Amino acid sequence: MNDRSPLSAPRHPSPTDDPLADLHTTDLSDLAIEADQQPRADVGTGTVQIGTGLSRIDALAKVTGRARYAAEHPADDLLYGWVVNTAAARGRITSIDASRALALTGVVDVLTHENRPKMRSLDLFYKDMTAPAGSPFKPLHDDEVHYSGQPVALVVARSLELARHAARLVQVRVETQPHETSMLAHRDRSHEPKSLKAGYSPPPKPRGAADAHWEDASIRVDTESYAGVEHHNPMEMHASTVIVGKDGHLTVYDKTQGSQNSRWVISRVFGLPARKVTVRNPFVGGAFGSGLRPQYQLLLATMAALHLKQSVRVMLTRQQMFTFGHRPETWQRVRLASDGEGRLTSVIHEALAETSRKEDYVEVVVNWSGQLYHCENVRLDYRLVALDQYSPIDMRAPGAAHGVHALEVAMDELSYAAGLDPLELRLRNYADRDSAQDLPFSTKALRECYAQGAERFGWSRRPRQPRSRREGDEWVGWGMATGTWDAMQMFARARAVLHANGQLVVESAATDIGTGTYTVMTQIAAAALGLPMEQVTFRLGDSTLPVAPIEGGSSHVTTVGSAVEGACEKIQRELWKRARHHVDGFAKVKFEDVEFSNGHLNARTGGLSVPLEQLVRLKGEDQIEAKYLLLPNLLKQKKYVRAVHSAVFCEVRVDEELGTVRVTRVVSAVAAGRIINPVTARSQVIGGVVWGISQALLEETLSDHALGRFMNHNLGEYHVAVNADVGEIDVLFVEEDDRIVSRLGAKGVGEIGIVGVAAAISNAIFHATGRRLRSTPMTPDKVMRRD
Ligand code: MOS
Repeated sequence: MNDRSPLSAPRHPSPTDDPLADLHTTDLSDLAIEADQQPRADVGTGTVQIGTGLSRIDALAKVTGRARYAAEHPADDLLYGWVVNTAAARGRITSIDASRALALTGVVDVLTHENRPKMRSLDLFYKDMTAPAGSPFKPLHDDEVHYSGQPVALVVARSLELARHAARLVQVRVETQPHETSMLAHRDRSHEPKSLKAGYSPPPKPRGAADAHWEDASIRVDTESYAGVEHHNPMEMHASTVIVGKDGHLTVYDKTQGSQNSRWVISRVFGLPARKVTVRNPFVGGAFGSGLRPQYQLLLATMAALHLKQSVRVMLTRQQMFTFGHRPETWQRVRLASDGEGRLTSVIHEALAETSRKEDYVEVVVNWSGQLYHCENVRLDYRLVALDQYSPIDMRAPGAAHGVHALEVAMDELSYAAGLDPLELRLRNYADRDSAQDLPFSTKALRECYAQGAERFGWSRRPRQPRSRREGDEWVGWGMATGTWDAMQMFARARAVLHANGQLVVESAATDIGTGTYTVMTQIAAAALGLPMEQVTFRLGDSTLPVAPIEGGSSHVTTVGSAVEGACEKIQRELWKRARHHVDGFAKVKFEDVEFSNGHLNARTGGLSVPLEQLVRLKGEDQIEAKYLLLPNLLKQKKYVRAVHSAVFCEVRVDEELGTVRVTRVVSAVAAGRIINPVTARSQVIGGVVWGISQALLEETLSDHALGRFMNHNLGEYHVAVNADVGEIDVLFVEEDDRIVSRLGAKGVGEIGIVGVAAAISNAIFHATGRRLRSTPMTPDKVMRRD
């Protein structure tokens, strides 16, 4: 490390007499983990396989506070930026008076669109790797106000408190223009999205005659539902610390799901060569999609640092977390019809979602309805309404969280119309082959999810009749739903170096947003070379490492994991070649007949064994290096539909007097390919289920459309599920091994956990009370309402 390293920043004197001094200090350098910030497994974790359950290797660093997040990295002479947001929802800034703020000693500058440094202005420079079609938001670009909460000034001061105080003294005048923030009020001007966003495919063309069949059907349902806006609330708020080096090099600690995406945007917007900017995100305190696109604080902090030639940090407050992307409000209508045996004869799914006026943010909402069940007559429709809002952004299982919800509630309704058990209805419409594209599934163990989940839950004991079980003041109901999500693979590089001392270092510019990336990548590498976990280091979170995609779409294991395994296999082959040429007895041993364990290369038969260290040193070197580029095998993959599936069963207890719903029991049976680490995978699904409960019962950001503003922009009024809202959660993984999605057999578990949970809860509420609630969140007022 050179002397500009953040870890060599001056330290505060050690605390002496004040026992609480530790708590007061803001300098964390004494607590910092190893200089390279890469967590390592504890000694004794030992040899692992794919499928071994392991706790996170970064857990200790996190719970002891040694893991540093974006706003915790120290720098010499650090300045603090505080964002001033406008209240107006649309208009033009006529004046910004910063004189009172600037008059304070210690306030260094107030940047606005009028005095900001020159930067590039074309949209194309602001387009990040995940941007949808349209014009990306450009902070402090000009005098236009596009939405309430828009950043319009950055106060830069010598302390955080001073910057915050000074920000209140900045007077912004806006000449307002009429705004439109209500999607439902402006649905008449909806448009068909034109976006070509990564991961998005428009709804397929209609097949069969869905409308005619629906009109003629005797067993049919017609459902409407609405889901309000939801905002991401990761524990770590968005922040960027931009450290200016002596040579002008920028080291940026950013809260992001992709260091190279942030690096790309900074370089382009500020016209800096790539080598002049390094973005690091060694630890990310949750993101859930909010960090897929660089957020405005990154550009503001970089702008200020370049302008002032000094290090700057900008962190958003919890309230300001409600001033950028969000899960879009979505209205849906699902119509289903079946024959007398419950076989679907028509599926019609229409959705209307909100976007900003600047960009066509899109997500796959309706497509699942043409894929999840077998039906010959399907019509799917997805439209957008552009509003005076910030563009929505992906939130865990974007599109599916809403779209599958609407479909699965409608399926439940159809089961009653057809006189069938809800699970039986789904089995009668099971799609062994995808009917939308007429392709086989790469793997699909959904039938086993249904069977094993139902068994674990005790579904067979469910009374058919709604409103048939009461305990105390509560009605008890059981509901179920199906979940699905794409199994994706992107491209990535990885580099592996096996040192003669037996240490293996593997690198890729991947991200760990809290999902367990450090742990599973280390595990994949350790398993490949038969090394104990503590001899393997996986480095991620640095834009200078080999290229990796953003951590999104539940695809990091299939992508980066495959690259890691690929790089390790190259090392395996090199070791094997060396053994064949140089070690007695190995001359005829084939690669298929060797295995790696306990730091040795062994022939499966004959008892031959040689330490890896010896093989590394054979040519007088002290390391073996291998690089691997993982490109998805598109020719093979496109012959299949690739998806993960789940079956969710739940029990609710509903107090109609109080309007309360308690989710006392959830069983989630998941088929997501080969599970690399059942401990971290289970955590992902549990987290998804908890969020599903939250989506079902609590989360909604409400607007005052007269002001065009989100009103409950804080955790006091925007409720998320807490421990008291969560009952028993039982996760089971159904066996699958999918070598079409990835060489590891894995499919990805990040998003599937949330899909279908809200629908299962809605369906359970119906079973408990006989009342159908389709829109989320199902808050007490809706549960109590008598219509
Ligand atoms: Mo996730 S919404 O793909 O970060």
